Amino acid sequence: MQYFGIAMPSEKPSALSIGLMSGTSADGVDGVLLEIHDQARPELHATCSQHYSDSTKKKIRKTAKRKIRDASEAAELDMQLAGICAGVVNRLIEHSGPARIAVVGCHGQTVHHSPNSKPPFSLQIGNAEELARLTNLPVVSNFRSADIQAGGQGAPLAPAFHQAVFASPRENRSVINIGGISNITCLPADPVLDVTGFDTGPGNTLIDNWCRTHFGCAFDKDGEIAKTGEVQLDLLNILLDDKYLKLETPKSTGLEYFNMKWVKEKLGLWDGYGQCSDADILATLTEFTATSIADALNALTPGVSRGFLCGGGAHNPLLVSMLARRTDFGLEPTTTLGIDPQWVEAAAFAWMAYRTVQGLTSTLPSVTGASRPVIAGTLHAPPAASRVCSTAQS
Ligand SMILES: Nc1ncnc2c1ncn2[C@@H]1O[C@H](COP(=O)(O)OP(=O)(O)OP(=O)(O)O)[C@@H](O)[C@H]1O
Ligand SMILES: [Mg+2]
Repeated sequence: MQYFGIAMPSEKPSALSIGLMSGTSADGVDGVLLEIHDQARPELHATCSQHYSDSTKKKIRKTAKRKIRDASEAAELDMQLAGICAGVVNRLIEHSGPARIAVVGCHGQTVHHSPNSKPPFSLQIGNAEELARLTNLPVVSNFRSADIQAGGQGAPLAPAFHQAVFASPRENRSVINIGGISNITCLPADPVLDVTGFDTGPGNTLIDNWCRTHFGCAFDKDGEIAKTGEVQLDLLNILLDDKYLKLETPKSTGLEYFNMKWVKEKLGLWDGYGQCSDADILATLTEFTATSIADALNALTPGVSRGFLCGGGAHNPLLVSMLARRTDFGLEPTTTLGIDPQWVEAAAFAWMAYRTVQGLTSTLPSVTGASRPVIAGTLHAPPAASRVCSTAQS
């Protein structure tokens, strides 16, 4: 099989694919090397993370808040992120050699997610053409656009992967990904029932933002700061009285909505502000995050029998214990299903990219609300393959 002049290993029993994820927390790039089999579950062969420097994080936040001087700043960041992604790919291929890699799936850094605007769009940066050049590998990027063009939210996209690797005919499972934004997937045991999923609201983003602005740290490690505060119930109720949380599915959200402006507006509605500590507010934001996820989980049909946690929030024991208190089913990390919480999203994009080059769909209209499943992403051929392609056409 040939795709853009690249020989695809469809005749082989398995293929290697690399997935790169840099989520809304903008903490760095997570990468995995995944072996995808025809019949069996994919296997994780290698993993690698590259944290962003503080200056890169600042540039991402500035771009997302549209506070950049001009387009050249965004373009420079686009190329810089491609370089960081290439570093992760090059470390991953030390495990296999480049020859065996079928494709790289690079999600890119979301700087604006706006599926309900006119026209709707979701913008990820991290120049895929440059990544293909730097790694000399085919790269699939821009995973969300085709679903949005088909009338969907373009998010969340991982549920199709969750279905492929985590579903069980014996129990209704839920996958709970607590990244910057939190999303859940409902995997019914009954194969006749649709897989559902949506963004529940904030994951770590409000906690991270509050920590950065009031405690000078990037996140609340192990929930240690929030543990010193007291949850403010009146404020919690104000936070929970929110229009996104009440929206019907399909729905997705981003940092355009759940941000410090949102927190300040809510604090403005509370007469206790000024009489409590910054740690009290952090504790309340953590409880709010857990409650919004738990409420979404408890409303799922069919009811969940087991919940599997992934994303960085799975490492916050306070957040997890608050979530456990508000749900009546067992919660465990995805490690028990064979993938450590940190790598699930990156593995999802390795899987999706491989399906893309095979011409297979990888989105679920029951999740995103699109009119049909789509082949997600755009393929960028490496320079050598592009030359083969243009020679063949001329
Ligand atoms: N030990 C820890 N204690 C508390 N929070 C943690 C810990 N480790 C990670 N985190 C949280 O996880 C976040 C990073 O999570 P993750 O990488 O899953 O988010 P993301 O990049 O937005 O991902 P995605 O959008 O793909 O779901 C950090 O910003 C931090 O808030
Ligand atoms: Mg991350």
